[in-house]
Amino acid sequence: MAAIFIHGRTREQGFSGTINLAGIRAVVEAVNNIPVIGNGDVTTPQAARKMLDETGCAGVSIGRGAFYNPWIFQHTLHYLKTGDLPAEPAFADRVRVMWRHLDLMVEVFGEELGCRMFRKVAPWYAKRFGPANEFNKRVVQISTKTEFQEVLENYLRWRRQFLDENGELLPRFQPPPLVASFMQEPAVARREQIPVPQGPVEVW
Ligand SMILES: Cc1cc2nc3c(=O)[nH]c(=O)nc-3n(C[C@H](O)[C@H](O)[C@H](O)COP(=O)(O)O)c2cc1C
Repeated sequence: MAAIFIHGRTREQGFSGTINLAGIRAVVEAVNNIPVIGNGDVTTPQAARKMLDETGCAGVSIGRGAFYNPWIFQHTLHYLKTGDLPAEPAFADRVRVMWRHLDLMVEVFGEELGCRMFRKVAPWYAKRFGPANEFNKRVVQISTKTEFQEVLENYLRWRRQFLDENGELLPRFQPPPLVASFMQEPAVARREQIPVPQGPVEVW
């Protein structure tokens, strides 16, 4: 089976800037016989819905969003079917899946290479951990699972300062909700205040 997967940014943009939904739509319209799958910044079920609706693509593919929320596929299917948005996973569940991911990489690539490759992956998971610099700084040095365990244990101790008595992140340390680049209003519409020149109003 053939399909086209189209990412809505140029290579120069890397992961920054906005996904071009109109560009994905143009590909969907130009292709007749095979499915076109949209990609880029689908980090929430609502973003999947918007990309499907606005581009007419046959499906979406999800990269980083799966590290931010490993249940995103299940959650997106549920949301598309019912309109209900499941809650984001708990920190402990994210850590459990991150560990399983490392175990599987070690199984496939061997301990040293698997761990070295995981240096790139772990910080994607950490984006949803709240404060994580202590983790990110050290996880990029691991070469064994024991080292990963030490980094994680050290991080869990360090992270306690950001928690309330129930072990939940204090509100001011919670990461803001994920919003895909193409879900935001254009900058002008988002402005809360229109910038005005300094000085008394009568003068201008
Ligand atoms: C850890 C990681 C590894 C990736 N590896 C590849 C790859 O081997 N080949 C590829 O074409 N794209 C690769 N990509 C790019 C993704 O396929 C995808 O196009 C990109 O991440 C944008 O989608 P996203 O916004 O859902 O992450 C990778 C992305 C990430 C985050």
